[in-house]
Amino acid sequence: MRPGEARGRTERDDAEEPVTDTQSSSPSLENLLHETRTFPPSGEFAAQANAQPSLYEDAAADRLEFWARQARDLVTWRTPFTETLDWSGAPVARWFADGTLNAAYNAVDRHVEAGLGDRVAIHFEGEPGDTRTVTYADMQREVSRAANALAALGVESGDRVVIYMPMLVESAVAMLACARIGAAHSVVFGGFSADALRSRIADAEAKVVITADGGYRRGAPSPLKPAVDEALRGEGAESVEHVLVVRRTEQDVDWTEGRDVWWHDVVDTADDVHEPTWVEAEHPLFILYTSGTTGKPKGILHTTGGYLTQAAYTHKNVFDLKPESDVYWCSADIGWVTGHTYIVYGPMLNGATQVMYEGTPDTPHKGRWWELVEKYKVSLFYTAPTAIRACMKWGEEIPAGFDLSSLRLLGSVGEPINPEAWMWYRRVIGGDTTPIVDTWWQTETGAIMISPLPGVTATKPGSAQVPLPGISADVVDDEAKPVPDGGGGYLVLSEPWPSMLRGIWGDLQRFKDTYWSRFPGLYFAGDGAKKDEDGDIWLLGRVDDVMNVSGHRLSTTEIESALVSNDLVAEAAVVGASDEMSGQAVVAFVILRGEHADEASTDEGSARIEKTLRDHVAKEIGPIAKPRRILVVPELPKTRSGKIMRRLLRDVAENREVGDATTLADSSVMNLIQAGLGKPS
Ligand code: WT7
Repeated sequence: MRPGEARGRTERDDAEEPVTDTQSSSPSLENLLHETRTFPPSGEFAAQANAQPSLYEDAAADRLEFWARQARDLVTWRTPFTETLDWSGAPVARWFADGTLNAAYNAVDRHVEAGLGDRVAIHFEGEPGDTRTVTYADMQREVSRAANALAALGVESGDRVVIYMPMLVESAVAMLACARIGAAHSVVFGGFSADALRSRIADAEAKVVITADGGYRRGAPSPLKPAVDEALRGEGAESVEHVLVVRRTEQDVDWTEGRDVWWHDVVDTADDVHEPTWVEAEHPLFILYTSGTTGKPKGILHTTGGYLTQAAYTHKNVFDLKPESDVYWCSADIGWVTGHTYIVYGPMLNGATQVMYEGTPDTPHKGRWWELVEKYKVSLFYTAPTAIRACMKWGEEIPAGFDLSSLRLLGSVGEPINPEAWMWYRRVIGGDTTPIVDTWWQTETGAIMISPLPGVTATKPGSAQVPLPGISADVVDDEAKPVPDGGGGYLVLSEPWPSMLRGIWGDLQRFKDTYWSRFPGLYFAGDGAKKDEDGDIWLLGRVDDVMNVSGHRLSTTEIESALVSNDLVAEAAVVGASDEMSGQAVVAFVILRGEHADEASTDEGSARIEKTLRDHVAKEIGPIAKPRRILVVPELPKTRSGKIMRRLLRDVAENREVGDATTLADSSVMNLIQAGLGKPS
């Protein structure tokens, strides 16, 4: 069985789990109740901030008019829209639907037309230290060439193009070139396997794949093209007509004549003038696959006008961007939504100058990021808690060796940030002065939803705090009733927002079931949350079978399906166990097939099985999904209705006393598991 195939489980199988039983490693409810530090904005920051308290008032006075104003102010329309929101087809929203525009024109051309062509768009830094400076005028030419080249390869408006790339200028160019001709891009993270790539290509029915020979990672060239070749050899990827290959590492690549074309042959030689394809606001801009609670990744669909509006609005106000003077850097990869909204669309719509870095933070030394902050005088920096915790471990003397005084604002995203990491980030990286914006959002929300506003909000370490102006979020109990201040429950979004997903590609029913059926009329985000006494929101982690490993979303079911697709395994259960570094770590419990059952009886045998299965998961999904530990067990704990009680397995994985097991079909199972692992029951 492939990871793409679900095993007949329901979307949610945690019905027995109490509201506060979230998967979050970091801040427990108890801890957070004791967190009382607050950091009011400095008068100096507040005076110059883009965001003013009146933003909340404006949005509250007339939410739709507020969004219409953002859309007119921040986005350039070819044809102005006359209707703001059409919610008659709920839960599929239509925003600014009768307007037309082009995303690449908004990100690039209009800045050149405004006389800003010489402004640096991207300071690119390769891992080996090669650099490239790209202005907005350069971007316009490059995106136009790529658009002409894609059109020559047969890509038309409405087609899908898969992008499987390292972090290169060409990656952003490729995305914008698709947008320029009205083709939806679907970026697949370069760390995903050939199998994962194939299932995404197949689901999107992509016509072209854009890739590179490889990229530099951890000091060595890391190949990408072979995974594309392998993906296209398999069944399901017949839609692909061409593979467009950027030369980066100059590794040897296999070549399929007629199908494969070099970027430098077809893009560099193409005409650098291209008339953008004007599309309707609801024209698909991109599909991005993300893990859900079943085995099959969801193709999250975003469209053009509303997405761009909220991308630009949030980037301007949450990061306080001053495009003339700031140097912005988001350390994400374009394979994730953060790279879409806060590297490509938000910053470029706002005409920002940004740093783009190809490699890992510790190559060739653990100060690489801070060296880049010093070198480019980065003023706004956006990263993930897992990276902050890694830097904490490496020691504060490393950032102390660099001049970080250019930094004036820090952002965090991807998982709850534990208060200690928040404090360290502010003190060591932010020189004890920078505001920190802890931004909660999801692939599905398209842009930031909950975050302090710098210069306005008094920040609290560990809390994303308040819905942005224009956004309606709440914490509700099992009956969908808002909890009082001090209470805990589920995070929901109660009004449509411009950058909301417009569905799951090809599966409207799954879209409704996943997000809109738990609490009718409310968008269920899948996160547990609490409100403190001030009504501020604290995110507590996922309440479903989705793990968060180093800020990346992984599905327990997807990894379980990968494990049972190996001949050794009869059954598997995966949990996210708290991990100091990565937030959560994947821990797998497997029952071996009868004929292999004895093989785990020796240390050597179980080590071999563990390695085989870890490699197998890496091949099926990608190295990020490799279980940290694989435990061979005789049974799995199940309820009478056959659902695996992951809560109990998490107790085992986290070396805790096992909690209430009374709803198990067979209550002796936990003893059996504990005994097999050599633990007292
Ligand atoms: C899930 C979404 C949004 C881009 C990166 C991840 C968790 C994200 C925060 C935050 C607490 C957070 C949630 C959410 N999450 N940001 N600031 N505080 N949790 O995107 O892969 O779509 O994952 O990440 O659990 O549901 P994603």
